[in-house]
Amino acid sequence: MLASASVSSSALGRLSTEGAFAVLARARDLEAMGRRLVHLEVGEPDFDTPEHIKRAGIAAIEANLTHYSPSAGIAELRDAVAVYAARFRGLEPISRDEVVISPGLKTLIWNVMASLLDPGDEVIYADPAYPSYSNGAAYLQARALPVRLSESANYRLDLDDLAAKISDRTKLLILNFPHNPTGGVLTRADLEAIAQQAIKHDVIVLSDEIYCRNVYDDAFVSIASLPGMRERTIVLDGFSKAYAMTGWRLAYGVMPAAIARNVILMNNNTFSCTATFVQHAGIAALQGPDEPVQAMIAEFRRRREAMVAGLNSLPGITCVKPQGAFYAFPNVTQITNDDKNLAAFLLEEANVAAIGGSCFGEVGRGHMRFSYANSLENIKIAIERMREALPRFPGGTS
Ligand SMILES: Cc1ncc(COP(=O)(O)O)c(C=O)c1O
Repeated sequence: MLASASVSSSALGRLSTEGAFAVLARARDLEAMGRRLVHLEVGEPDFDTPEHIKRAGIAAIEANLTHYSPSAGIAELRDAVAVYAARFRGLEPISRDEVVISPGLKTLIWNVMASLLDPGDEVIYADPAYPSYSNGAAYLQARALPVRLSESANYRLDLDDLAAKISDRTKLLILNFPHNPTGGVLTRADLEAIAQQAIKHDVIVLSDEIYCRNVYDDAFVSIASLPGMRERTIVLDGFSKAYAMTGWRLAYGVMPAAIARNVILMNNNTFSCTATFVQHAGIAALQGPDEPVQAMIAEFRRRREAMVAGLNSLPGITCVKPQGAFYAFPNVTQITNDDKNLAAFLLEEANVAAIGGSCFGEVGRGHMRFSYANSLENIKIAIERMREALPRFPGGTS
């Protein structure tokens, strides 16, 4: 048998597993034992990929577009992204050499961080946050300075905390709004204040906009569209959430060409290229009819109402209304601070899979993340199962 030291690097020891995938693995085990669960843990639209996108992918396979392609992405998709991203975000024209394609956004976040950060570089991101940012920073030995989101302000960034942490030593500021796990959205005034700080301290901004189509109240604003920001912003977006394409693995970034060249070098050294026929499906997504996306957004809006009302009807749980993405992030501190224990209880005793908020950072402690990318019927079933089970939570409300 191998000694454990021989199978893992010290860098690997700094990585953790994304909470959603850990809960999903346990949920699948329970299902294999015959349990019928409601899945509110994974951030994945339950809708099918729209028909015209599937057809484009199938046609590309039939046309034998099944070979290697450039590490930056195929020219046709890079051009389609350039047109789409400039129009959707109100940006000046984007050139092909500013666009990078990747197999999913997680990969691109990684390659961007790996191409920019040296050990000791300071990187700022929100707490709570999607775990890729903290994992990337830890692996690269960058110095992470998480900035609080404030629940009372609907999970917008605490700008005073940001001002206290950003400095000339900051290399990278990571934003992700609409936000995973809270559903928070920044106002234009927030973005202007953040842009001012980024310019003052000459900071590069990574704006993870994968939920940009999932806004329910106000129109989406990209920080890249603010004066002086395009030249220092890396806009990242993907097809997983907007087009229900999680399993296709497809995403893009728009960034200054000098940064793009380095990220393409990372792509070349990690995955070589993105599946060619998948990129053709991506062109159909960007250029085809938008109605399927709008129909999904309308359904998510209805589910948001059901999820928030349902959670607020449970004793000991309070939930602010998320403005975007498809997550609710209720406060459960009246029941417990040990959110992971509560998540385990709900999985085992209520057959409801959800994630403890502390999986996303310390500020998430005492909260839970419920994805409402599930049917209205299943959301209602989950709420009733929790209503029944919660009084049995050890030390919980009765
Ligand atoms: C904020 C955020 N960024 C990036 C991703 C990665 O998406 P994908 O790798 O499916 O493109 C996710 C997925 O949950 C996410 O929530």
